[in-house]
Amino acid sequence: MKITVETIRAMKSRGEKIAALTAYDFPTAKLLDECGVPIIFVGDSLGMVTLGYPDTTHVTMADMEHHVRAAARAKPNALLGADLPFKSYETISDAVANAKKLTAAGAEFLKAEGGREILPQIKAVIAEKIPVMGHLGMLPQHVLEEGGKYHVKGKIEAEHQRLIDDAKLLQDAGVFAIVLELVTPPVAEEISKSISIPTIGIGSGENCDGQILVTNDLIGTFPWFTPRFVKPLANCAAEIKTAVTSWKNSVQQNRK
Ligand code: KIV
Repeated sequence: MKITVETIRAMKSRGEKIAALTAYDFPTAKLLDECGVPIIFVGDSLGMVTLGYPDTTHVTMADMEHHVRAAARAKPNALLGADLPFKSYETISDAVANAKKLTAAGAEFLKAEGGREILPQIKAVIAEKIPVMGHLGMLPQHVLEEGGKYHVKGKIEAEHQRLIDDAKLLQDAGVFAIVLELVTPPVAEEISKSISIPTIGIGSGENCDGQILVTNDLIGTFPWFTPRFVKPLANCAAEIKTAVTSWKNSVQQNRK
């Protein structure tokens, strides 16, 4: 059955945890869908784990459209979302125009990073009947302003209060869910209890309404860097290397 934004919201009401994973291409989206993952997300994390950029600030609208189209060809039952990339929602008109391009490519919802500072853009996109997911905590599109490091948020009182207030503002603006990235677990839990829409955590402890991971981190296809909060459940890089080396050796030795 097709998963919708309403399905995801209802999961929180029923106390059902929400699993979300990234996919940037057709086969990954199809495999995740066959596993019954309810949210498949074309994140701008594709910049690092697929395109070889140092961070997400290099990802363009063209990159996102290309990968959203690929994942959408899997026609998943899962709800398919995508990131509005760096600097694509600086103004209301850019946010709306770029949101329309990504929905035309196949995204069923969009995610934008930030709280009160991007409310006008979020409201304008929602007014176009395009569902939006919020993103609070560590905002990877701001990593350069943070000195190139991914910092945990919510440790100091001012940050804690701002996160709670921003979550409520995003809810009031109409977002259907909020990603909490690298938020201290007690603050993530407090936010999850204080709003009625689902929180989807990444590196924010177990008490969010759902969890999202970069699939490459989970299955070990990007072995050069794994965030410390991820416990990979497969080592696909090692499997690939074993198969490739074995085939290469058989070719070189002309054996069958
Ligand atoms: O870019 C991304 O993939 C994300 C999710 C992991 C939340 O923002």
